[in-house]
Amino acid sequence: MIAVAVCSLKGGVGKTTVTLGLTSAALTAGLRVLVLDLDPQGDATAGLDAAGEIPSTLAKVVDDPRRRHLQACTVPSRWTDEGEGGEPASVIDVAVGGEQIAQHDRTDLSSRRLLSLRTVLAKVAKEDRYDLVVIDCPPSLGGLTRMGLAAADRVVVVTEPGVFAIAAADRALRAVHDVRSTLKVPVQPLGILVNRVRGHLAEHSYRVEELRSLFGPLVMVGEIPERTAVQRAQGAFAPVHRLKDPGGRQVASIFDALLQRALRSRS
Ligand SMILES: Nc1ncnc2c1ncn2[C@@H]1O[C@H](COP(=O)(O)OP(=O)(O)O)[C@@H](O)[C@H]1O
Ligand SMILES: [Mg+2]
Repeated sequence: MIAVAVCSLKGGVGKTTVTLGLTSAALTAGLRVLVLDLDPQGDATAGLDAAGEIPSTLAKVVDDPRRRHLQACTVPSRWTDEGEGGEPASVIDVAVGGEQIAQHDRTDLSSRRLLSLRTVLAKVAKEDRYDLVVIDCPPSLGGLTRMGLAAADRVVVVTEPGVFAIAAADRALRAVHDVRSTLKVPVQPLGILVNRVRGHLAEHSYRVEELRSLFGPLVMVGEIPERTAVQRAQGAFAPVHRLKDPGGRQVASIFDALLQRALRSRS
């Protein structure tokens, strides 16, 4: 099992999009996935079309990282229901943060709480139930994002090709380093993923080059273009791999490459 956190230090840059895209790639590859939705807004939970009543939330896991508390806030995604595309049978579950998780988005959390998700995932790993855990972080560098980073093996830093991208990516990478050293966990950056690139814009190409010149191979090849397919998939609460038009296929192939990069990093 490998755990990948998706973070950025601001909202609207595409964390949930990358979480859903990576999960969609994993579904297509027949992997078993658990998504931890750490954003109190619950966009990943909604995008995954989570089924059924949710009796509890991840807030309880943070208080007391027992396996059964994680079980109580985990529900199946309906993405696995309608595999008319002939996808292999797979497991996609989502552990719901809900509004209650917001109470833990503080800067004064104990190490025990900061490590709570890592603690519970270590128990899950022993069961061989999931191949991949994807952690959708909220937009700030508060307690929740630090908890998500501490639980992860690898981190995808999402950024837009704008003037503040360098500062934002730099701060996110430093946050990863900081969590790694203060909590003594093995988390590492997987890379910087640039999202919403409009290829014909000189400004965007310039920003991508600028990021490459500063961060080198950490900037992933295959930026995600701005495509309506992303919004259409999310609007239909469906995996982007189910869209068969060129835009959908283009975006899907980038998430396939991201998944491969994550899986390769494990060995
Ligand atoms: N590559 C893209 N092309 C088109 N729309 C996108 C793309 N990436 C994100 N969006 C849209 O932008 C909005 C914000 O993205 P989201 O993933 O929710 O950001 P975050 O989770 O970082 O707040 C969503 O409506 C999403 O559909
Ligand atoms: Mg989000």
